[in-house]
Amino acid sequence: MSDDREQGLARGLTNYGDRDFSLYLRRSFASSMGYSREALSKPIVGVAYTPSGFNNCHRHFPELLDAVKRGVLAAGALPLEFPTISLGEVFLNPTSLKFRNLMSMDSEEMIRAQPMDAVVLMGGCDKTVPAQLMGAASADLPAIQLVAGPMMTSRHGDERLGACTDCRRFWGKYRAGDIDSHEIGAIEGRLATTAGTCAVMGTASTMACIAEALGMSLPGTAAIPAVHADRLRAAEATGEAAVRLIANPIQPSQVITRNSVENALRVLLALGGSTNAIIHLTAIAGRLGIDIPLTWLNELSDTTPVLVNLKPVGQHYMEDFFASTIWKTSSPPAALARCCAN
Ligand code: FES
Repeated sequence: MSDDREQGLARGLTNYGDRDFSLYLRRSFASSMGYSREALSKPIVGVAYTPSGFNNCHRHFPELLDAVKRGVLAAGALPLEFPTISLGEVFLNPTSLKFRNLMSMDSEEMIRAQPMDAVVLMGGCDKTVPAQLMGAASADLPAIQLVAGPMMTSRHGDERLGACTDCRRFWGKYRAGDIDSHEIGAIEGRLATTAGTCAVMGTASTMACIAEALGMSLPGTAAIPAVHADRLRAAEATGEAAVRLIANPIQPSQVITRNSVENALRVLLALGGSTNAIIHLTAIAGRLGIDIPLTWLNELSDTTPVLVNLKPVGQHYMEDFFASTIWKTSSPPAALARCCAN
């Protein structure tokens, strides 16, 4: 029998044939982790947590998790993180896409099987955000996405460097004999120098913007650099927002609608974002029965100008996008507080 009307630890009890025994046993075992009876009586925010030694883009997740938990606790709920598969783009053979659906199933089943009232999805690297949104859409528990945020750029001589548009550009120069092995070795050490996702409007940043356009993450948070203090404030605010989603439940199926998918497609087109996002958005929307025919995409494309000048199609990096378009009129904490109060 479903325990959806129950809250916190009492949700989705393990089946021992006696509900009260199941709850007594669960509370007993949870107590062994040092939680008080009072803490265990609170609503629970699960945090789908994806750090990995094979995922450089999520290197800062321990610090981000602390901030998420701070927000959850301040808002009166109990945060409990749980691991899922993590997909680090360059560490997977033969290719990360092969594992996106596996991660989505892992996310979906762990959200559904464990006792949580809402979930924060911590992802970032290319396939992780689509996988988490797919899983959350199918589980249909109140959910909010927190992305890793992009890397900062680095320098090589007079040039700025950022993964990964510049990766191939310099490799091409090396193969053409325009730069030597000493120089390509130096560049190798400067392409990716901070935590966070690739520094351009590649798949990761496109999906971060799409998550925001869909309404699945807090407004104004997609482009905050991974190492910026605003990213931590966004994490804290995300934790608080997850608790509000318990008090006023809004399920992914109410957020990811045909209209919000259209918004996301418009944003994708206006950003000149990654074409991979079409594959991912189609899969996310498909979990909720929303079809994205190519004719629809084409119609939107005919009436949507490209509004930004970001690599790989343009000139600039995600940190420039953040600096030029976000927080023009208010300080980050004020803006986040406002969006979170709504
Ligand atoms: Fe993770 Fe590019 S390798 S976003």
